[in-house]
Amino acid sequence: MKTIIEPFKIKMVEPIKLTTRAERESMLRRAHFNVFQIPAEDVIIDLLTDSGTSAMSAEQWAGIIRGDESYAGARSWYRFEKVLRDLTGMPHILPTHQGRASERILFELIGGPGKSIPSNNHFDTTRGNIEHSGANAVDLVIDEGTKPRSRHPFKGNLDSVKLERFIEDVGAEHVPVCMLTVTNNSGGGQPVSLANIREVSAICHRHGIPFFLDACRFAENAFLIKSREPGQQNRSVREIAREMFDLADGATISAKKDGLVNIGGVLLMRDDSLAKRADNLLILTEGFVTYGGLAGRDLEAMAQGFTEVLDEDYLTYRLRSVEYLGERLLAAGVQIVEPPGGHAIYIDAAAFCPHLPPEQFPGQALVCALYARAGIRSVEIGSVMFGGVDPDTGESTRPPMELVRLAIPRRVYTQSHIDYVVEAVSEVFVHRHELRGFRILEAPPVLRHFTAKFEEL
Ligand code: F0G
Repeated sequence: MKTIIEPFKIKMVEPIKLTTRAERESMLRRAHFNVFQIPAEDVIIDLLTDSGTSAMSAEQWAGIIRGDESYAGARSWYRFEKVLRDLTGMPHILPTHQGRASERILFELIGGPGKSIPSNNHFDTTRGNIEHSGANAVDLVIDEGTKPRSRHPFKGNLDSVKLERFIEDVGAEHVPVCMLTVTNNSGGGQPVSLANIREVSAICHRHGIPFFLDACRFAENAFLIKSREPGQQNRSVREIAREMFDLADGATISAKKDGLVNIGGVLLMRDDSLAKRADNLLILTEGFVTYGGLAGRDLEAMAQGFTEVLDEDYLTYRLRSVEYLGERLLAAGVQIVEPPGGHAIYIDAAAFCPHLPPEQFPGQALVCALYARAGIRSVEIGSVMFGGVDPDTGESTRPPMELVRLAIPRRVYTQSHIDYVVEAVSEVFVHRHELRGFRILEAPPVLRHFTAKFEEL
């Protein structure tokens, strides 16, 4: 059969409130044109993030009931530990409440002033935690990774020439770890090839530098390796994922993505003495080592989620639905970051609204238009999120791309929801010349996209 179906039936439904265009326009005005300020109830299709928004399976809900809430050594902990050990082979497995908690513990231990930590692209919480420790976070993605139209199959790859030069420049003794984000969220959800993971691991180990994965979307990355990388077609996704972890000395994971849960995280490592120090910090700030800031039931849901996510029928449907959205938008003439990545489609908002310069926030104009037109919530990843004012020169700073991300929650929306999104984006595209730019009325100095107030020009 050519039709790839959702490989699940729906046994519980959550109603969507349908609003009118007039209601949405007044909602936008009340929210000062910031969709983070709109109640989720008033959103029809919520594509703000794929994080913590998954639908859980019947087996996960059964695990929620089975959860053992003992303080130490709960049954649920042993189940979780076994699943993670089989998946990753890592000797030290620390549960945390979400990805950034793993990052905070890791970088408090190995970061600090005078250190530099490279990655393909650091996600913003990773960068934030590295900088909070006093260290420097450096992005070394391949050049194709910043070109929306490049069809390179692994645009998340880290540039090994840049990495060698970087290590030589700063000195290996100042590089406490090298990270690799799989898939590369800040770079358009693009995958990293197995060849690149092997190469980066080898370079790091030649210089005595530990190599860690930011493995939030490891299953989607492994599936894209299987589909796109020559020689990988006959391996199972589980086997590819295991090789990815075997090449690393540790990993930070937000289970809110490929763990298929609404909350949870993991910190993995091989080094015994580092793990001892991490355990102490975990106990201090998250919780005892067999629950780490979570309930026993959360560990059950994660154990089951990390098992189900490797089901290749699920991954085929998952990656195909993202690709389908991307193909339909390209066919309508909408420029996206190509090829479609793992968890989201990123629209090139600068190309969508050529009449709006970056200082009028073309991405914000598109985000608001999608909400007004169809109640779709997306997120601007451009001059609102990453722009600002350079404290030294007083000049405006701009990111290299003006993007709008349509992140697809896992197992939540069906093909007709995706068709609805295609129709809405296509309609807005036909009338794109009517989109008006925005001006920021009020914004905090950091992370301004969450609370900034805007005015239409
Ligand atoms: N690393 C990556 C690559 C991520 O995408 C995220 C979260 C984190 C780390 C942090 O994990 O939220 O559990 O603390 N990304 C979400 C997003 C927020 O919308 O892309 P967390």
